[in-house]
Amino acid sequence: MSDDLREDQRIQMVAVGPDDEAEKKLWLEALEGVIDQNSYCLGNAVGEFEEQCKQYLGVDHAFGVSNGTDGLKLALRAVGVNSGDEVILPAYSFFSTASVIAHLGAKPVFVDIDPKTLLIDVDQISAAITDKTRAIMPVQLYGQTAEMDTIMKLSEQTGIPVVEDAAQAFGVRYKDQPAGAIGAAGAFSFYPTKNLAAAGDAGMVVTQNEEIAEKMRRLRVHGDIGGYQHQTLGWNARMDGFQGAILSIRLERLATQQEARARNANEYLEALKSHQLTDKIETLAQTSGSDHCWHQFIIQMDDRDRIREQLSQRGIDSGIYYPGTLPGQPCFSDLGYDEGKYPVAQRAASRVLALPIHHRLQQGDPSRVVAALAELVGTATR
Ligand SMILES: Cc1ncc(COP(=O)(O)O)c(C=O)c1O
Repeated sequence: MSDDLREDQRIQMVAVGPDDEAEKKLWLEALEGVIDQNSYCLGNAVGEFEEQCKQYLGVDHAFGVSNGTDGLKLALRAVGVNSGDEVILPAYSFFSTASVIAHLGAKPVFVDIDPKTLLIDVDQISAAITDKTRAIMPVQLYGQTAEMDTIMKLSEQTGIPVVEDAAQAFGVRYKDQPAGAIGAAGAFSFYPTKNLAAAGDAGMVVTQNEEIAEKMRRLRVHGDIGGYQHQTLGWNARMDGFQGAILSIRLERLATQQEARARNANEYLEALKSHQLTDKIETLAQTSGSDHCWHQFIIQMDDRDRIREQLSQRGIDSGIYYPGTLPGQPCFSDLGYDEGKYPVAQRAASRVLALPIHHRLQQGDPSRVVAALAELVGTATR
């Protein structure tokens, strides 16, 4: 591959916005519909989208919220997380998995991740449980679930509820249960780079439990039980009507887009094998029983930063999710965590690379990426 790929030939990391002029027209019509209804916060468009999600996912309750972060906050509070409590989570995730816990006045208690999947190491959870533990929060990172049977068994034995950070796993199933609603509650993000993507910030909380649903419904609107009566504190965490209208259009296309992501993942896996790269480049193992929405295609290797830079020079974008561990974030320094206690997360932070996998890639793009990797890995100076 030449080093002087034209900018329009770059293999981009994300596909944000409408796919084409026809979809753009649908978006504009949908926005016009919301304007005609004059209903901008929640309203019909969000209500319709919530109903579609309930059907699509097979969940009893789904509430559109302002973003995934607010969704996690709502879900944690709805299962009873309050000031002084502890919540167990993996040491490696997007920042807000941990920040929401701290915002509720609770303490994030980190456990290391499994080296094969980079998801929470389920065998380390029970040792982290104390009499203050109020929730266990696995993260369904990159598009597949953690090993949920073990987590749910622990939850049943201890009575500690599970809240899933399913921000990256909309539509994923684990042994025929919908990610997000396997535990007591869960949250999705519809940030514009997610597999189900809004045109701005949006998210959703889901549960199969009527009581938790009632709490979520109120927490989303300042804790109002109606008539400006606030028995509990809540937030303004409503989804915008505009986002609901656009998300309904996108949900109809999701199945086709998921097929494209799965095709791309297979092409990567085949190409890595045929270039005999599997000893130099590690892919992630799949959790037994979980399917995969391929939100990200993650590889791990030594000399990651050099290879990433050289991929970019060859017209191939990539991402690092994430360059550091959660316990190592400066804002958590007062919690006194020793990053060295999370060796698997620390190693992952220096080795992961996310390759483009979105639905707009052309057939052959993953093979081009792998061909470039083959050249670059071969030239590593170590
Ligand atoms: C794992 C994870 N948790 C939480 C979030 C927060 O979602 P949002 O950006 O919609 O607030 C994200 C999204 O970036 C995420 O990937």
